[in-house]
Amino acid sequence: MSQSPFTLQSFKYSDDRLEILNQLLLPHTIEYVEINSVEEAHDAIKSMKIRGAPAIASLAALYVALYLKRALIATPVPNFLASTESLVADVTPILDYLYTARPTAVNLGAAMRRLHQALAASVAAAEDVQSATRRLIKEAEDVSNEDVGRNKEMARLGGEWLIEQVKQRGGGGKELNVLTVCNTGSLATSGYGTALGLITYLHETGHLDKAYYTQTAPYHQGSRLTALELQTLQIPSVMICDTMVGSLFQHHNIHAVAVGADRVAKNGDTANKIGTYNAAVLAARHNIPFIVVAPVSTVDLDVPDGSRIPIEQRPPVEACIIRGALYPGTEDDKAQAVVMFTPKGLTGIYNPSFDVTPAELITAIVTEKGVAVKKEGEQQFDLSGIV
Ligand code: MRU
Repeated sequence: MSQSPFTLQSFKYSDDRLEILNQLLLPHTIEYVEINSVEEAHDAIKSMKIRGAPAIASLAALYVALYLKRALIATPVPNFLASTESLVADVTPILDYLYTARPTAVNLGAAMRRLHQALAASVAAAEDVQSATRRLIKEAEDVSNEDVGRNKEMARLGGEWLIEQVKQRGGGGKELNVLTVCNTGSLATSGYGTALGLITYLHETGHLDKAYYTQTAPYHQGSRLTALELQTLQIPSVMICDTMVGSLFQHHNIHAVAVGADRVAKNGDTANKIGTYNAAVLAARHNIPFIVVAPVSTVDLDVPDGSRIPIEQRPPVEACIIRGALYPGTEDDKAQAVVMFTPKGLTGIYNPSFDVTPAELITAIVTEKGVAVKKEGEQQFDLSGIV
């Protein structure tokens, strides 16, 4: 297995520092920004300086860990460390506030719920405030630490499953071409990635011909972020405009579409970046397997189907602008440009951040626990066994 070289990191976390890579400035400017307050953490997520369902959950959790670590060594000792009850009273609004930063990705809510539960467990066990604080720090750090391992497991499980599927379809021995949407790599997670992790696994094991990816307007997660990740990883790849998926399927041998997810409903309906549904409809038309790669924490059994998934509407202006460097490759390549390409004062702009792909269009849902497929003749998944 060939090892991939250096990868980009969505954040850096140490005992006394939390920094995020400002993704609004990528791909031309690498700038890490320190996060020192709950407002900064909330803003980083809301403004999409950091984005991707697992990455925003990790950032929110790590901010809580940093806040508590600093409190433990502060002099004078902050008042909220007087008792476990005052700790709960202080941290609860922080968790609730971070939870409101973006609505669709369930990972953020799941992470904040997990920290609420850790607090409740400390109260139930009548722990002293120091132990309760340390328990919460560990739980928060685990949210991030667990991500990379499960991404690698999903990538392996999904990659091996796909290789086998292609063999069964009579394509044995082939190197595969896989299309992805948005960005689901290191920049969207704590490392390695979900759908892009699967593509990386195929590359590392010698089973990938090319990764194809859509530009993913309007934020351009594909052309700004996935392009940079694939370039950094030296994975052979081809960028397409969002409008070219049908043409790609008509003229190229694409073996699968692999995407990430922001929330998977109980029946398998999946919310992911806008444009995912288009790719799924076209994949079904061309009989191309459509695979969702997402950790168990993305599955929301409380939501019966996709119609109940809250879909974030982004500010209209974000659909009217394009970001980039003014003079890439020159001394001035730090100069950032935000260019408006619509008429001034334009109204009537539709800008949902996500769409929902119905389960019937999804061939497999890969989590760290295994590969779920629908029963013969069924249109929906039974995910109750894997969560
Ligand atoms: O709006 P974004 O960039 O946060 O949307 C990201 C996606 O839709 C990803 O596909 C999803 O979060 C999975 S990331 C591993």
